[in-house]
Amino acid sequence: SILAPSVQELAEQGITKVPEQYLQPNQDSILVSNTTSSPQLPIIDFDKLLCEDGIELEKLDNACKEWGFFQLINHGVNPSLVESVKIGVQQFFHLPMEEKKKFWQTEEELQGSGQVYVALEEQKLRWGDMFYVKTFPLHIRLPHLIPCMPQPFRDDFENYSLELKKLCFKIIERMTKALKIQQPNELLDFFEEGDQSIRMNYYPPCPQPDQVIGLNPHSDASALTILLQVNEMQGLQIKKDGMWVPINPLPNAFVVNIGDLLEIMTNGIYRSIEHRATANSEKERISVAGFHNIQMGRDLGPAPSLVTPETPAMFKAITLEEYVNGYLASKIKGKSYLDVVRIKND
Ligand code: SIN
Ligand code: FE2
Repeated sequence: SILAPSVQELAEQGITKVPEQYLQPNQDSILVSNTTSSPQLPIIDFDKLLCEDGIELEKLDNACKEWGFFQLINHGVNPSLVESVKIGVQQFFHLPMEEKKKFWQTEEELQGSGQVYVALEEQKLRWGDMFYVKTFPLHIRLPHLIPCMPQPFRDDFENYSLELKKLCFKIIERMTKALKIQQPNELLDFFEEGDQSIRMNYYPPCPQPDQVIGLNPHSDASALTILLQVNEMQGLQIKKDGMWVPINPLPNAFVVNIGDLLEIMTNGIYRSIEHRATANSEKERISVAGFHNIQMGRDLGPAPSLVTPETPAMFKAITLEEYVNGYLASKIKGKSYLDVVRIKND
């Protein structure tokens, strides 16, 4: 991989035309459904879910089957902590470039800030910078990243990552129930020592927003992603029935989505859905994605109780390492690795 320049730095020069390497002529922007008639992403009330509300549990189940995404309200993460994280992330991206350069990625290390050039054949760049750090297990943290974040952002960020991890457990526990898995730890076991990484995304305003892409269409390699939309700007779109559906940022909500690992573990019952981030001409957009993965070294495959004679395994068994490597390699080719490990019955 090759390091790309900061698009934030470029945008701040007040350009009126986007440089060639950012232009994406073949986007299917025509497919964006308009917001008034488009189907609305389900909103799940976590309070109700925790109170054993059967209707809410069914809503969760349907959202994971039909959308692979939902908005989560009353999630229990302290609103003032979330507010501090939002402020901290915004301030981080507005630090002087020399400060941010201390966190810059290197060609060997994807963690840090910047934008790694994926070695695609046509070297197209995204209209977005990111700051990516691995947060759990603790020993995986790099000394020049989280420990060097400015205070109080560093403490807030650490607390936030821990809160997200706890929330992830609770969501998986509720999903276990929704899936009618009898053994309560059948999925949770994989998350006990699971790893987490957090990616902060910064999309500057763009003079030609329809010609660029903030984040290319992809499904997440994670098991569960918990996304915070930091400001009120729209940009996230998810693919539903062949159309791109824009997701409105809701105050005090998280956007939660199923990643490839959980689609495999639920034997295809819960779906890892393609999504992308677009750019806009008005204002920067910032988001914070918390990726929750299963423990390294574990074998990945459908949960045994979800494999029955009527519902045979839909995915090949594979180690997590093999999956992650395969995901990265196929991403370069713009393909879904989930399709590679899917068992084809013909
Ligand atoms: C975003 O909403 O900015 C991007 C979500 C993602 O990480 O895919
Ligand atoms: Fe994503």
